[in-house]
Amino acid sequence: MAADLRLEIAPSILPADFGRLGEELQSLEDAGVDRIHWDVMDGVFVPNLTIGYPIIADCRRHSELPFEAHLMIVEPERYVKAYIEAGCELVTVHAEATTHLHRTLSLIGEEGARAGVALNPATPLSAIEYVMDLVDVVLIMTVNPGFGGQRYLTSVEPKIQAAAALRDATNPAARIEVDGGVSTDTLAGCVRNGAQIVVSGSALFSYPGGRREAVDTFHRLAKEALA
Ligand code: DX5
Ligand code: ZN
Repeated sequence: MAADLRLEIAPSILPADFGRLGEELQSLEDAGVDRIHWDVMDGVFVPNLTIGYPIIADCRRHSELPFEAHLMIVEPERYVKAYIEAGCELVTVHAEATTHLHRTLSLIGEEGARAGVALNPATPLSAIEYVMDLVDVVLIMTVNPGFGGQRYLTSVEPKIQAAAALRDATNPAARIEVDGGVSTDTLAGCVRNGAQIVVSGSALFSYPGGRREAVDTFHRLAKEALA
């Protein structure tokens, strides 16, 4: 991967100690991560509940890193503006969670943020082929959303590759992000199929050598995968 195309690492905030988020953000920044992946869950779109935009707004002043909101919520259009005002420069919505995906992605751009669209493992890529002009990031879920620590679904890898091809054909500036079960064991598969950004929660937070070593190892494995 050329230097300007180096893999970006976005830790999921899910495994963090929510009672010490400021310190956790500093620790992740010290470890060399590229951005913070806020997993927002409403207990409806996914069977789990996490944090909301007020928490992110309070954390904004404790980190210099770019924030991305992964909205696993129904009707995300209701809260797009709130997550942007809370300090998220990228807001990612699920194609499955909004009736008018084109309008919702347009809204994110109109509000001044970058727009991401996420696809659950079962959702075909065709769901986004007519909105690629509005998309800055395609987030391919390699687990069923709702929880960290799940097994990476290798069956989704052809979709990563197809998403990269769709991006090349329609919007070369867009980036492919992979989310779910990314670890030292699965990173090479992600990268070889086209992942440019990987989200990692449990594997990064529980890495035996610590977070910095996890980040360095991810970068080494990505380079090896493309050599
Ligand atoms: C799942 C979230 C993911 C998850 C990643 O719904 O969107 O970001 O927390 O955690 P790991 O890396 O443990 O699968
Ligand atoms: Zn996520």
